[in-house]
Order: sequence, then C-alpha cells, then structure tokens
Amino acid sequence: MPKDAPLLPYGRQSISPADISAVCSVLKSDYLTTGPKVAEFEASLCSFTGAKHAVAVNSGTSALDIAVASLGLPEGSEIITSPFTFVASANAILYNGCKPVFADIEPRTFNIDPKEIEGKITGKTRAILYVDYAGQPCKIEKIRQVAKKHRLMLIEDAAHALGAEYKGRKTGTFADLTCFSFHPVKHITTGEGGAVLTNSDTLASKLRMLRNHGIDKAPSQREGYLYDMKLLGRNYRITDFQCALGISQMKKLPVFLKRRRELAEKYNKALSEMPQVQLPAVLPHAKHAYHLYTVLLPAEIRDRVYHLMRGRGIGVNVHYIPIYRFSYYRKFGIKPSEYPVTEEVFSRILTLPLYPAMSGGDVLKVVKSLKESLKEAEG
Ligand SMILES: Cc1ncc(COP(=O)(O)O)c(C=O)c1O
Repeated sequence: MPKDAPLLPYGRQSISPADISAVCSVLKSDYLTTGPKVAEFEASLCSFTGAKHAVAVNSGTSALDIAVASLGLPEGSEIITSPFTFVASANAILYNGCKPVFADIEPRTFNIDPKEIEGKITGKTRAILYVDYAGQPCKIEKIRQVAKKHRLMLIEDAAHALGAEYKGRKTGTFADLTCFSFHPVKHITTGEGGAVLTNSDTLASKLRMLRNHGIDKAPSQREGYLYDMKLLGRNYRITDFQCALGISQMKKLPVFLKRRRELAEKYNKALSEMPQVQLPAVLPHAKHAYHLYTVLLPAEIRDRVYHLMRGRGIGVNVHYIPIYRFSYYRKFGIKPSEYPVTEEVFSRILTLPLYPAMSGGDVLKVVKSLKESLKEAEG
C-alpha cells in the first residue's frame, strides 16, 4: 500500500451533524464556560450511571487529580493501583504528594488482582485506585471487601468503562469516586474532557471547588463580590461548547456501545480459528464496554506483527507499557520482576482497531492483515 495511505486507527470519534450544530449554538450563546450546558451534561452522566453527583472537568487526568485531592490525604500516603494502565492513573497520585504502590494484574482480564492488593497494604495505605482495563469492570465486590476490611477509600478509573456493567449495574457508583475521560478515542467525546462521579455530598462539594481554584462559589452563586478560597484548587473547568458536544454524544452512547460490542463479537468469531491468538476473556458478571479490543500473541513475534500490520495501514497499538518501566518512575526502584503477570501480558499484547464507525469490512481487513502478518512473522 502507498506510504502515505491513512492508517485505520485503533480508535477515533464519531461526530454527527447534530453534534456540530449543538456546539455551534453554544458558540452563539452568552456562556462559553461555567454556563448551563455544564450542569446539563453532568445531569446526563448522572441519569445514565445512577450516580448522585457528576463534576465535569477538562480531562480525565484532571478528574483523577481532583478525585485524589478531594480525599485530603496526608503527604506520603500510599495508594494502591495497577501498573498496567495509562500513566495518568498513577500520576494523579503523585500530583497529590502520595505514593503509588503497584499491585500485579490478573492474567485473564489484565485488571488489578484483588489478592495482590492485600499483599501491598501497609500502615500508610489510604486508598485503592483501580482501573477497568479496556472497558471490563474489575472484581468490584472483592476490592470493596478489601477496602472495607482495611478502611480504604476507593477511586475507580473508569476512563475505559463508560457503559460497562458489573452484575447488571453500570460503572459510576461502585467506588467513592469514579473518573471518566472524554478523549476522542473514548466512548463519547468532548474533545478533551472528563468527570468525577460520586454519591457523597461532601466529596462533590470539594470536587466543585477543586476544579475552580478551590473557590467556594461560582459567580452565579455570589451575592456581591465576596467569595472564599477554601482549598488549593486548579482551573480544570470545562467549556459549555464542550459540554454541548458531550450532551449530544450521550444521546448516542447506547448505539456506540452496541456497535462496539458487535464489532468485538465479529473479531471473536473471526479470530477464534487462529490458535496463536488469545482472545479477550470476559468474566461472567461483567458486561464489557470495549474501549479497547486487545489480543495476546506469542511474545517472540508480537513486535514484528505490530510493525508488519502498521506497514499495511492497520493502526495497531500496545496498551500499555507498564508504568514502572518509564524513566520518571524508575527512580522509585520498582523491579519489573515483581510484576510477572504485567510483564508477560505487556510482552504479548496488541490492540486492534475498534470504534463505532468501523464497518464489518474493516474488521475483516484487520483480521486478514493479522493472519498474513503472523504467517510472515513466524517465517
Ligand atoms: C486508564 C486511563 N486513565 C486516565 C486517562 C486520562 O484521560 P485524559 O486523556 O482524558 O486525560 C486515560 C486516557 O487515555 C486512560 O486510558
């Protein structure tokens, strides 16, 4: 194929004329930020997930940052998390003067292993920040049991898992705080954006302050010029035109989720005849939201297959390089050998393209390319 031919990306947004007109109408209105569309978007997140409060912010990373900040933990507190995630999950812990402590993942779901969490608890542990990898909920009941036993707060990084379900209940209310991302590759997009959901009135009011410099009253709530700054907050406000896009996207979320699941099923069927390819495992109580569709390949040929497929215009990817491997994190002296499952999965994983606008033909194109690349790589 020609060198400049576009890649079939691993993920991308679906923007409709209705989305564009929703954004344009806000651009013509009085409020570009901190206006009515923010509250309306938050209400749509609450009604979809069943959470009492949603606080929308300018990225999923900001959501994680203020979620950790809202706990008000003393410097040096430890928060247990997965090493097999995007760096933002652990960075949010560092931003707040806390220490990320990694626990190894499960070999089938690549989610944090609740048994490994128990082994990492010390006198300084204050919270667990678990990540629903690729869109499959973690073993939430087990994690909640551990948290209850050791009196730990729970933060769910559900950046991959808007619309995922555990025992028939959607993500958004399992942890004390649940964070979503609305980056273009996610289930819905606001360009950049995120939200923290909680059922706690106290945490919600802190989150609202933290996204706005720690100030206690938005301009619309003030009498006169007076306001107070109660916490050291940030400016993580999201704009009204982004929220208008979010509201419009939320209307299509059920269709997006259905399409992602259909495409995953097509992959499952087409790949089941290939013995070298291990398909994603979905646990009985989970309904996967398929932000990512990942497979495991033999470690010896994964990199070669990655390059061959990219050369053929298929935008495969690797999610994720374990966080402790990055140079910034190496100073913490974490030994990869302490995370045998993460290391094994990292050496074998490959993300195949998946997004709602993909056609059945695109899936077959990816499968054909994978088949040919495997054959070539195995020589
Ligand atoms: C698991 C996870 N957490 C957090 C984030 C951060 O979200 P954002 O890119 O919206 O800041 C991402 C983004 O890809 C992610 O994959």
